[in-house]
Amino acid sequence: MPSFVRLLTLALFAITESAAAVDGKVLDVGISAQTGDRVAGGPNLAERAPIFRQEFAGTGTGVDDRDGSIVGNAYLTYTVLNNATYDVTGCINFCNSVNRCVFVNLYYEFNNYLLDFVFPEKSNLKCDLYGKVHRAFEKTNLGGQQSIPPPAGLTYIQNSSGWTRYTG
Ligand SMILES: *[C@@H]1O[C@H](CO)[C@@H](O)[C@H](O)[C@H]1NC(C)=O
Ligand SMILES: *[C@@H]1O[C@H](CO)[C@@H](O)[C@H](O)[C@H]1NC(C)=O
Repeated sequence: MPSFVRLLTLALFAITESAAAVDGKVLDVGISAQTGDRVAGGPNLAERAPIFRQEFAGTGTGVDDRDGSIVGNAYLTYTVLNNATYDVTGCINFCNSVNRCVFVNLYYEFNNYLLDFVFPEKSNLKCDLYGKVHRAFEKTNLGGQQSIPPPAGLTYIQNSSGWTRYTG
């Protein structure tokens, strides 16, 4: 009964596929965030390891450079990363640990009271996660809040980049 065997094989393949697609931990195996290198995992699973590509770049960190963070739907959560480096890998790793995350927005936010004085990280590097891809034209949060009392300036954003998850 060759056609029955083929059907069964197809069905099993479909089940395996969907399991791999929904199990974040399986997909997470061994990603080098910036290069897409695969460093671990079984040969078949490695084929489906997520790769991130830059959707849009930040506009720089010069004194006069200003940028916006994404305002868009399917927002999931955010974290604050150590700002000793512009930690794209850390942001992507966080995305890989959160269900449904397919896009990250990484940026510096200045003059934010919580970031500067309250949160334990004492860092202004924010990593926002989304369940949907967003584009540069959606960088519409330009700050402008008086978060810290004067003479501190208003909040502003610098170097806001976006990274989209692909499944390889
Ligand atoms: C600004 O963002 C780009 C990614 O768009 C990154 O390569 C660069 O290192 C960042 N610069 C700083 C100073 O954080
Ligand atoms: C890192 O974040 C802290 C808290 O917001 C800020 O005071 C500091 O200037 C930032 N450092 C850099 C290199 O951006």
